[in-house]
Amino acid sequence: MTDNQGKEKAWLPPLRGSKRGDVNPFIAMDMMSAAVEREKSGLPVIHMEVGQPGAPVPQHVRDVAAKALQSGKIGYTEALGMRSLRERIARHYADTYLVNVPAERIAITTGSSAGFILSFLSMFDIGARIAISSPGYPAYRNTLTALGLEPVTIVTDEKNNWVMTGADIEKAHAQQPLNGVLIMSPANPSGTMMSATALQDMAETCQRLGLWLISDEIYHGLTYEKPAVTALTFDDQAIIVNSFSKYYCMTGWRVGWLVLPETLVRPVERLSQSLYISSPQLSQIAAEAAFDCMDELEEIKMGYTRNRALFMKELPALGYGKYLPVDGAFYFYIDIGDYTNDSVDYCKRILNEAGIALTPGPDFDLERGNRFMRLSFANTYEDCEKALDCLKRFRQHS
Ligand SMILES: Cc1ncc(COP(=O)(O)O)c(C=O)c1O
Repeated sequence: MTDNQGKEKAWLPPLRGSKRGDVNPFIAMDMMSAAVEREKSGLPVIHMEVGQPGAPVPQHVRDVAAKALQSGKIGYTEALGMRSLRERIARHYADTYLVNVPAERIAITTGSSAGFILSFLSMFDIGARIAISSPGYPAYRNTLTALGLEPVTIVTDEKNNWVMTGADIEKAHAQQPLNGVLIMSPANPSGTMMSATALQDMAETCQRLGLWLISDEIYHGLTYEKPAVTALTFDDQAIIVNSFSKYYCMTGWRVGWLVLPETLVRPVERLSQSLYISSPQLSQIAAEAAFDCMDELEEIKMGYTRNRALFMKELPALGYGKYLPVDGAFYFYIDIGDYTNDSVDYCKRILNEAGIALTPGPDFDLERGNRFMRLSFANTYEDCEKALDCLKRFRQHS
């Protein structure tokens, strides 16, 4: 063997990657790659695999960002983010939830994904045990594992509307002590929500047991039955993780935020300084402008409401009528156990035969996921209609 300069290579001891890096792949992203391959070969695909809004960010946000870009002055910001954006988010809490959070307790992050890393590092030492639900968002398990933390899976089912309860946490903590609990409402992959009572019960349980409560509120704003309640209503010390990715249609801008208890503000600031320096300033400027686009964002949400109603009406006739309650977010998590016990293969067939990209369940649930697939309806109404036609043909031939 030769090296990159054509010289004979001497034997050297092999370099091995870490066990931490050995996390499961995010199958939704792998599906996206397979769908892109199909598109490259000239075949059409309707993308329903990745949880991202089909609508572009409102024009005003783009105009504000374009103006900032023209100025040419895009630099670092303070590690916790631009003051004006933190103040605007504080106002959002007062307006939306009637909760007072000082801007000093808000940290701007590079999407909620960076918010998880910063908050986990500031709360937990290596080996800490954090309860997460199954089915659930796969990055929780992978991020915790990569950071040397232990995800403790709590299996949910229809009995408790597919959400973790205070009693589940009591039981798991009694078996082997936990250090924290990570909840999300509305949830991914289902869209299922915790009622205010369930949230209060969870907050009180965590307080009584001395556990950190982390609440992922990324799908707030996207609710169809009742508005979502923030965990801060019941626990002023809860860590809130949120983002401009979903309701605000800004996935690619990579900007989110944390609401932190006072004790964690300085640790998160110090960690941010070293890990990220700051979130991109252009995205922070754009995010602040997004708060001035509520009418347009509500219009986009109305589109999801129409898509949701369409699927609710049509899916049962296709034999896909067994899905979890879609209280919020923009997903149907469909039980396909009557047709397959290998949802990865089933989703590949749907992609190849019907041109619809969906996400197989094992991303969200290692044990039962092979019986499920997730469909994201954050698309245009026309694409949803087309997808239903394609699925109908697929079902007729399968
Ligand atoms: C529940 C949940 N939390 C967090 C994220 C990460 O979002 P981002 O890093 O874009 O803010 C996602 C993305 O799909 C999600 O579904």
